[in-house]
Amino acid sequence: TVYANQDIASKKVARRITDLIVSKQLKGENAILGLATGVTPIGVYRELVRIHKEEGISFKNVITFNLDEYFPMKPTSPQSYVIFMKENLFNHIDINMDNVHIPDGTLPIEEIHDFCLSYERKITELGGLDLQILGIGRTGHIGFNEPGSAPNSGTRLVTLDDLTRRDASRDFGGKENVPTKAITMGIGTIFKAREIILMAWNQKKASIIKKAVEGEISAEVPATYLQLSENVEFIMDQDAASEL
Ligand code: GLP
Repeated sequence: TVYANQDIASKKVARRITDLIVSKQLKGENAILGLATGVTPIGVYRELVRIHKEEGISFKNVITFNLDEYFPMKPTSPQSYVIFMKENLFNHIDINMDNVHIPDGTLPIEEIHDFCLSYERKITELGGLDLQILGIGRTGHIGFNEPGSAPNSGTRLVTLDDLTRRDASRDFGGKENVPTKAITMGIGTIFKAREIILMAWNQKKASIIKKAVEGEISAEVPATYLQLSENVEFIMDQDAASEL
Protein backbone atom coordinates (compact mmCIF):
# COMPACT_ATOMS: atom_id res chain seq x y z
CA THR A 1 0.00 0.00 0.00
CA VAL A 2 1.41 3.36 -1.02
CA TYR A 3 0.40 6.51 0.82
CA ALA A 4 1.03 10.11 -0.22
CA ASN A 5 3.51 10.61 2.60
CA GLN A 6 4.92 8.97 5.70
CA ASP A 7 2.81 11.02 8.06
CA ILE A 8 -0.45 9.70 6.63
CA ALA A 9 0.97 6.17 6.46
CA SER A 10 2.21 6.29 10.07
CA LYS A 11 -1.23 7.41 11.25
CA LYS A 12 -2.88 4.51 9.40
CA VAL A 13 -0.51 2.02 11.02
CA ALA A 14 -1.02 3.55 14.48
CA ARG A 15 -4.80 3.29 14.01
CA ARG A 16 -4.48 -0.38 13.03
CA ILE A 17 -2.55 -0.95 16.25
CA THR A 18 -5.05 0.85 18.49
CA ASP A 19 -7.98 -0.89 16.75
CA LEU A 20 -6.32 -4.20 17.61
CA ILE A 21 -5.74 -3.11 21.22
CA VAL A 22 -9.37 -2.00 21.62
CA SER A 23 -10.81 -5.14 20.02
CA LYS A 24 -8.72 -7.25 22.40
CA GLN A 25 -9.84 -5.11 25.37
CA LEU A 26 -13.47 -5.76 24.46
CA LYS A 27 -12.76 -9.49 24.60
CA GLY A 28 -10.82 -9.19 27.86
CA GLU A 29 -7.62 -10.31 26.09
CA ASN A 30 -4.11 -8.97 25.71
CA ALA A 31 -2.72 -7.57 22.46
CA ILE A 32 0.71 -9.07 21.77
CA LEU A 33 2.78 -6.68 19.67
CA GLY A 34 6.16 -7.11 17.99
CA LEU A 35 7.88 -3.73 17.88
CA ALA A 36 10.71 -2.28 15.83
CA THR A 37 13.25 0.49 16.32
CA GLY A 38 14.99 2.81 13.86
CA VAL A 39 13.76 6.08 12.39
CA THR A 40 10.95 4.43 10.41
CA PRO A 41 8.42 3.67 13.20
CA ILE A 42 8.95 6.94 15.12
CA GLY A 43 5.89 8.57 13.51
CA VAL A 44 3.76 5.55 14.44
CA TYR A 45 4.89 5.76 18.06
CA ARG A 46 4.24 9.53 18.12
CA GLU A 47 0.70 8.92 16.88
CA LEU A 48 0.12 6.13 19.43
CA VAL A 49 1.12 8.56 22.20
CA ARG A 50 -1.26 11.17 20.77
CA ILE A 51 -4.13 8.69 20.59
CA HIS A 52 -3.42 7.57 24.17
CA LYS A 53 -3.40 11.16 25.47
CA GLU A 54 -6.26 12.57 23.40
CA GLU A 55 -8.58 9.58 23.09
CA GLY A 56 -7.71 7.90 26.37
CA ILE A 57 -6.95 4.52 24.82
CA SER A 58 -5.15 2.42 27.41
CA PHE A 59 -2.14 0.17 26.82
CA LYS A 60 -2.72 -1.80 30.03
CA ASN A 61 -3.60 -4.94 28.04
CA VAL A 62 -0.60 -4.63 25.71
CA ILE A 63 2.39 -6.98 25.84
CA THR A 64 5.36 -6.10 23.64
CA PHE A 65 8.38 -7.92 22.26
CA ASN A 66 11.05 -5.87 20.55
CA LEU A 67 12.77 -7.33 17.54
CA ASP A 68 16.34 -6.72 18.51
CA GLU A 69 19.07 -5.09 20.58
CA TYR A 70 22.74 -4.45 19.96
CA PHE A 71 25.20 -6.71 21.75
CA PRO A 72 26.84 -5.82 24.00
CA MET A 73 24.60 -2.95 25.08
CA LYS A 74 23.68 -1.54 28.48
CA PRO A 75 19.98 -0.69 28.81
CA THR A 76 21.01 2.74 30.13
CA SER A 77 23.18 3.58 27.12
CA PRO A 78 21.67 6.33 24.91
CA GLN A 79 22.09 4.10 21.83
CA SER A 80 20.23 1.18 23.39
CA TYR A 81 16.89 0.15 21.99
CA VAL A 82 15.62 0.14 25.60
CA ILE A 83 16.18 3.90 25.80
CA PHE A 84 14.83 4.37 22.27
CA MET A 85 11.58 2.58 23.15
CA LYS A 86 11.18 4.44 26.46
CA GLU A 87 11.78 7.85 24.90
CA ASN A 88 9.61 7.28 21.85
CA LEU A 89 6.78 5.27 23.38
CA PHE A 90 6.83 3.58 26.77
CA ASN A 91 7.46 6.69 28.91
CA HIS A 92 4.40 8.37 27.41
CA ILE A 93 1.75 5.64 27.67
CA ASP A 94 0.27 3.59 30.52
CA ILE A 95 1.89 0.27 29.56
CA ASN A 96 2.94 -1.96 32.46
CA MET A 97 6.73 -2.21 32.08
CA ASP A 98 6.54 -5.86 33.23
CA ASN A 99 4.80 -6.47 29.89
CA VAL A 100 7.73 -5.06 27.90
CA HIS A 101 10.35 -7.43 26.48
CA ILE A 102 13.55 -6.33 24.75
CA PRO A 103 16.51 -8.64 24.10
CA ASP A 104 19.09 -8.30 26.88
CA GLY A 105 22.35 -6.83 25.62
CA THR A 106 24.12 -7.32 28.97
CA LEU A 107 24.17 -11.12 29.17
CA PRO A 108 27.36 -13.14 29.43
CA ILE A 109 27.87 -14.76 26.04
CA GLU A 110 27.31 -18.29 27.40
CA GLU A 111 23.80 -17.35 28.60
CA ILE A 112 22.58 -15.90 25.31
CA HIS A 113 21.43 -19.19 23.82
CA ASP A 114 19.10 -19.96 26.75
CA PHE A 115 17.89 -16.36 26.84
CA CYS A 116 16.94 -16.56 23.14
CA LEU A 117 15.05 -19.82 23.66
CA SER A 118 13.14 -18.32 26.57
CA TYR A 119 12.30 -15.20 24.49
CA GLU A 120 10.75 -17.47 21.85
CA ARG A 121 8.99 -19.55 24.49
CA LYS A 122 7.42 -16.50 26.14
CA ILE A 123 5.98 -15.31 22.83
CA THR A 124 4.52 -18.77 22.16
CA GLU A 125 3.13 -19.19 25.68
CA LEU A 126 1.30 -15.87 25.41
CA GLY A 127 -0.40 -17.11 22.25
CA GLY A 128 1.96 -15.62 19.65
CA LEU A 129 2.35 -12.16 18.16
CA ASP A 130 -0.88 -10.58 16.94
CA LEU A 131 0.98 -7.98 14.92
CA GLN A 132 4.64 -7.47 14.08
CA ILE A 133 5.80 -4.15 12.72
CA LEU A 134 9.04 -3.95 10.75
CA GLY A 135 11.36 -1.47 9.13
CA ILE A 136 13.90 -2.55 6.55
CA GLY A 137 17.65 -2.03 6.55
CA ARG A 138 19.52 -1.21 3.35
CA THR A 139 21.02 -4.71 3.39
CA GLY A 140 17.46 -6.07 3.22
CA HIS A 141 17.53 -6.99 6.88
CA ILE A 142 14.39 -7.23 8.98
CA GLY A 143 15.10 -7.03 12.68
CA PHE A 144 18.82 -7.67 12.47
CA ASN A 145 18.43 -10.70 10.18
CA GLU A 146 21.25 -9.87 7.83
CA PRO A 147 21.94 -11.46 4.42
CA GLY A 148 22.53 -15.19 4.94
CA SER A 149 19.75 -15.56 7.53
CA ALA A 150 17.73 -18.75 7.18
CA PRO A 151 13.96 -18.54 6.69
CA ASN A 152 13.35 -20.70 9.77
CA SER A 153 15.85 -18.87 11.99
CA GLY A 154 14.91 -18.16 15.60
CA THR A 155 16.00 -15.54 18.12
CA ARG A 156 19.80 -15.56 18.22
CA LEU A 157 23.06 -13.66 18.39
CA VAL A 158 24.10 -12.36 14.95
CA THR A 159 26.98 -10.45 13.39
CA LEU A 160 26.04 -7.12 11.87
CA ASP A 161 26.72 -6.37 8.24
CA ASP A 162 29.25 -3.66 7.45
CA LEU A 163 26.61 -1.48 5.72
CA THR A 164 24.32 -1.78 8.77
CA ARG A 165 27.14 -0.60 11.05
CA ARG A 166 27.90 2.26 8.66
CA ASP A 167 24.23 3.30 8.68
CA ALA A 168 24.26 3.24 12.51
CA SER A 169 27.54 5.16 12.80
CA ARG A 170 25.85 8.54 13.22
CA ASP A 171 24.13 7.37 16.42
CA PHE A 172 27.40 6.05 17.80
CA GLY A 173 29.77 8.81 16.68
CA GLY A 174 31.66 6.60 14.24
CA LYS A 175 31.39 3.10 12.82
CA GLU A 176 34.17 1.85 15.07
CA ASN A 177 31.86 2.44 18.06
CA VAL A 178 28.92 0.47 16.62
CA PRO A 179 28.71 -2.99 18.22
CA THR A 180 29.60 -5.81 15.84
CA LYS A 181 26.80 -8.03 17.09
CA ALA A 182 23.13 -7.98 18.02
CA ILE A 183 20.45 -10.26 19.41
CA THR A 184 17.52 -10.47 17.03
CA MET A 185 14.27 -12.35 16.65
CA GLY A 186 14.65 -14.71 13.70
CA ILE A 187 12.87 -14.74 10.36
CA GLY A 188 10.96 -17.78 11.67
CA THR A 189 9.93 -15.84 14.79
CA ILE A 190 8.67 -12.92 12.70
CA PHE A 191 6.82 -15.26 10.34
CA LYS A 192 4.74 -16.71 13.16
CA ALA A 193 3.06 -13.33 13.74
CA ARG A 194 -0.59 -13.35 12.65
CA GLU A 195 -0.07 -10.05 10.83
CA ILE A 196 3.12 -8.35 9.64
CA ILE A 197 3.45 -4.74 8.52
CA LEU A 198 6.72 -3.63 6.94
CA MET A 199 7.08 0.14 6.64
CA ALA A 200 9.48 2.08 4.45
CA TRP A 201 9.82 5.78 3.74
CA ASN A 202 12.11 7.92 1.60
CA GLN A 203 14.06 7.50 -1.61
CA LYS A 204 16.91 5.92 0.34
CA LYS A 205 14.79 2.76 0.72
CA ALA A 206 13.51 2.60 -2.89
CA SER A 207 16.08 0.16 -4.27
CA ILE A 208 15.92 -2.27 -1.36
CA ILE A 209 12.11 -2.12 -1.46
CA LYS A 210 12.20 -3.05 -5.14
CA LYS A 211 14.38 -6.05 -4.33
CA ALA A 212 12.26 -7.04 -1.32
CA VAL A 213 8.94 -6.87 -3.18
CA GLU A 214 9.88 -7.89 -6.72
CA GLY A 215 13.25 -9.62 -6.39
CA GLU A 216 13.99 -13.31 -6.34
CA ILE A 217 13.40 -14.84 -2.90
CA SER A 218 16.82 -15.44 -1.41
CA ALA A 219 18.89 -15.31 1.75
CA GLU A 220 20.85 -12.48 0.07
CA VAL A 221 17.92 -10.17 0.81
CA PRO A 222 16.16 -11.57 3.88
CA ALA A 223 13.12 -9.27 3.42
CA THR A 224 12.31 -11.22 0.21
CA TYR A 225 11.19 -14.09 2.46
CA LEU A 226 8.15 -11.94 3.28
CA GLN A 227 6.89 -12.67 -0.25
CA LEU A 228 6.18 -16.19 1.04
CA SER A 229 3.68 -15.04 3.67
CA GLU A 230 -0.01 -14.29 3.15
CA ASN A 231 -0.07 -12.08 6.25
CA VAL A 232 2.31 -9.35 5.15
CA GLU A 233 1.58 -5.82 4.06
CA PHE A 234 4.25 -3.41 2.84
CA ILE A 235 3.28 0.18 3.68
CA MET A 236 5.29 2.83 1.89
CA ASP A 237 5.39 6.48 0.98
CA GLN A 238 5.67 7.40 -2.69
CA ASP A 239 9.44 7.80 -2.57
CA ALA A 240 10.11 4.35 -1.10
CA ALA A 241 7.73 2.85 -3.70
CA SER A 242 9.18 4.84 -6.60
CA GLU A 243 11.11 1.93 -8.18
CA LEU A 244 8.24 -0.58 -8.04
C1 GLP B 1 17.97 -1.11 12.37
C2 GLP B 1 16.93 -1.97 13.08
C3 GLP B 1 15.90 -2.47 12.14
C4 GLP B 1 15.41 -1.32 11.29
C5 GLP B 1 16.53 -0.84 10.40
C6 GLP B 1 16.16 0.35 9.54
O1 GLP B 1 19.10 -1.79 11.99
N1 GLP B 1 17.48 -3.06 13.82
O2 GLP B 1 14.85 -3.08 12.87
O3 GLP B 1 14.33 -1.71 10.51
O4 GLP B 1 17.64 -0.48 11.18
O5 GLP B 1 16.33 1.54 10.25
P1 GLP B 1 15.66 2.91 9.89
O6 GLP B 1 14.21 2.76 10.19
O7 GLP B 1 16.33 3.89 10.82
O8 GLP B 1 15.95 3.17 8.47
